[in-house]
Amino acid sequence: METKTSKVSIVGAGAVGSTLAYAGLMRGFARTVALYDINKAKVEAEALDLAQGIQFMPEATVLGSNDVGVVEGSDVVVITAGAKQQPGQSRMDLAGATISLMDKVLPPLLEAAPDAIYILVTNPVDVVTYAAIKKSGMDPAHMFGSGTVLDSSRLRHEIARECDVAVGNVHAYIAGEHGDTEVALWSSATIGGLPLNEWKGRDGKVVMTEDVRERIHHDVMRSAYTIIEGKGATNYAIGAAGARIVEAVLGDQRRVLPVSTLIEYPGVGEVCMSLPAVVGRNGIEHQVQVPVDDAERAALDASAASIRETATRFGA
Ligand code: 2OP
Repeated sequence: METKTSKVSIVGAGAVGSTLAYAGLMRGFARTVALYDINKAKVEAEALDLAQGIQFMPEATVLGSNDVGVVEGSDVVVITAGAKQQPGQSRMDLAGATISLMDKVLPPLLEAAPDAIYILVTNPVDVVTYAAIKKSGMDPAHMFGSGTVLDSSRLRHEIARECDVAVGNVHAYIAGEHGDTEVALWSSATIGGLPLNEWKGRDGKVVMTEDVRERIHHDVMRSAYTIIEGKGATNYAIGAAGARIVEAVLGDQRRVLPVSTLIEYPGVGEVCMSLPAVVGRNGIEHQVQVPVDDAERAALDASAASIRETATRFGA
């Protein structure tokens, strides 16, 4: 009898998809990793290149095909295919093209892997996740976006560097849109259990002053623009973030992650946006009600409204 092993399929063998596959394979996140892309030569080459490194990774089988059947039996399907953000372009500018792509890509995927947990990693991820849920009729707990997991990693990196402390001891979230209206939840941020606004430098002065927080929030929000300007795309951090989300699902880790999920936002209506949620084998287990201050609530209201407006504009 064939034993069922864990299988992750990644749709899109571009920079993000292939890096996510690499990051996941290095961490042994699944026994079988399948890459699916319409570009046969590209997807077969990416799969072969990854497979030839398996000696240096936890044992896994790597598949690559332009036939959607390669995703059959997947426990998790990660969709990275989508329009590519050009220098200076906002993520929301990609909405029309990527939503149209979902119309084509989703039906055959859902037929081939109806029982998988679906993770959207394509921009604008909040609007695309909302459109995908509505078009597929999937249980919203089983289809969500990478959201601000990446942005929160960027925020923690900047805070750790500013405060001269290990990033693993920084707990801070970016919430709302994965994009220009994203919100730093400063009021709940801590380092080693100490509220961020009490963290002092060697000079005995508070490090995270209002000016420092504003600079860091701006730099985090602009990170993708900066990186795209320099190298054409972002892939390493989003690949690692995506692999972390897949691990939380496959390992039933019940990890708190700010993923983009479907919520009824007061005064706005239905929207997908990032708020911390417990992620496990069944996808979104439950939301975490992180306290926010008045300024953060106002910024989240604006972020939710912006996402809703774009979703409505593109008929999602
Ligand atoms: C990023 O933030 C482009 O959404 C991608 O790196």
